[in-house]
Amino acid sequence: MIFRQLFEPETSTYTYLLGCPVTQRALLIDPVASEVDAYVSVLKALGLRLFYTLETHVHADHITGSGLLRERLGSQSVVHQAAGTLCPDLLVSDGVRLQLGSLEWTVLYTPGHTQSCVSYRFEDRVFTGDALLIGGCGRTDFQQGNAGQLFDSIHQKLFTLPPDTLVYPGHDYQGQTVSTIRQEMQKNNRLGPGVSRSDFVALMDGLDLPLPKHIHAAVPANLACGKVDAAI
Ligand SMILES: [Fe+2]
Repeated sequence: MIFRQLFEPETSTYTYLLGCPVTQRALLIDPVASEVDAYVSVLKALGLRLFYTLETHVHADHITGSGLLRERLGSQSVVHQAAGTLCPDLLVSDGVRLQLGSLEWTVLYTPGHTQSCVSYRFEDRVFTGDALLIGGCGRTDFQQGNAGQLFDSIHQKLFTLPPDTLVYPGHDYQGQTVSTIRQEMQKNNRLGPGVSRSDFVALMDGLDLPLPKHIHAAVPANLACGKVDAAI
């Protein structure tokens, strides 16, 4: 598979480009609106055509590039059926399998950070959005977040994958790029060995974090596939 990990520094967001080397068809996971020109350049340089943008969830910190990419390149926006977005092309649910050329992937419903979080599993790797981060996890105090549900999603859907599965998160704030299921099961501070469900719920419910800077603009815009005027 053709693979690139792309980074948006203002919100430390990772976007992933995956392409089929046979058909030259490609998809982007969690594209950011401000980076669309860069994605178009990378796709062009690699000779790829964009077919899908996959959202791991409705983001609160940045604006999705899915709408802009659809306008420019004709790609289709893929989100979970509980996302409540106004303009998806394809709604998915747990266990759905999708294919693009030689790329094949499975949707894993992993709610808890938000009600519509999914992870996407391709071959040897899983893209976990904000459900499972390297050494941590997404917060659970807005967008119908639920700490107990996140604990169950991670333990039942992600920690049951083969231990060598590569974990690619939606963000990293320390420059880490990739982990494995084994590493997270052994070393994740919030979810590693010895952390019970009730420990985790108490920890998450006590974080008391400030809201993301752009949440009041980003969530309405993202429900409209990145249309900024929807946020006014
Ligand atoms: Fe998020």
